[in-house]
Amino acid sequence: MPILNVRTATSEDLNRILDIYNQGIEDRIATLEVEAKDFDYMTDWFKVHQNRYTVLVAESDGIVVGWASLNRYSHRCAYDGIADLSIYVDRTFRSKGVGSALHLELEKEARKNNFYKIILFTFPFNENGQRLYQKIGYREVHVFEKQEVMDGQYIDVMIME
Ligand SMILES: CC(C)(COP(=O)(O)OP(=O)(O)OC[C@H]1O[C@@H](n2cnc3c(N)ncnc32)[C@H](O)[C@@H]1OP(=O)(O)O)[C@@H](O)C(=O)NCCC(=O)NCCS
Repeated sequence: MPILNVRTATSEDLNRILDIYNQGIEDRIATLEVEAKDFDYMTDWFKVHQNRYTVLVAESDGIVVGWASLNRYSHRCAYDGIADLSIYVDRTFRSKGVGSALHLELEKEARKNNFYKIILFTFPFNENGQRLYQKIGYREVHVFEKQEVMDGQYIDVMIME
């Protein structure tokens, strides 16, 4: 794969961020969301992802192939030092190191922005996700059993930190 460039996202990237997010929704391995999002949703999301809540994109040959963000974990100020992670890679670019490259840079951003911990929610059956998170050093905190119903099936959700 050509060299990856990881940089801060701008509003120009929102169409690609949306496409990649909708792939993750469609694949049913990444999120409990089931409805495809639209551009207005992504624009509103981006408005609350400024300053500390960074969004990074990974580009290959000038095309955005993945994105990662630090999200607000809680509105309680006691949790201000904790960020929640999202990370999504275009289907055709998964398992090629894009997720690792994004996380490496996002972790630096998190430290710069005074977060002392990143947490994430994932599905135990998300193999790519599990491999990435274990490689980086996330630990399983808990698996919530039957945490949600998606497409008529109970879904377990794992929290990692
Ligand atoms: C989960 C996701 C972000 C991981 O990103 P990725 O770019 O696919 O992951 P990477 O290629 O960086 O792989 C990370 C590690 O997993 C392992 N790995 C990845 N794919 C592998 C494969 N097919 N076989 C064996 N090991 C593999 C490797 O150890 C790799 O480490 P390495 O770079 O030292 O080889 C990505 O697959 C994705 O977007 N999936 C859909 C959306 C999603 O699930 N998001 C997460 C929501 S919780």
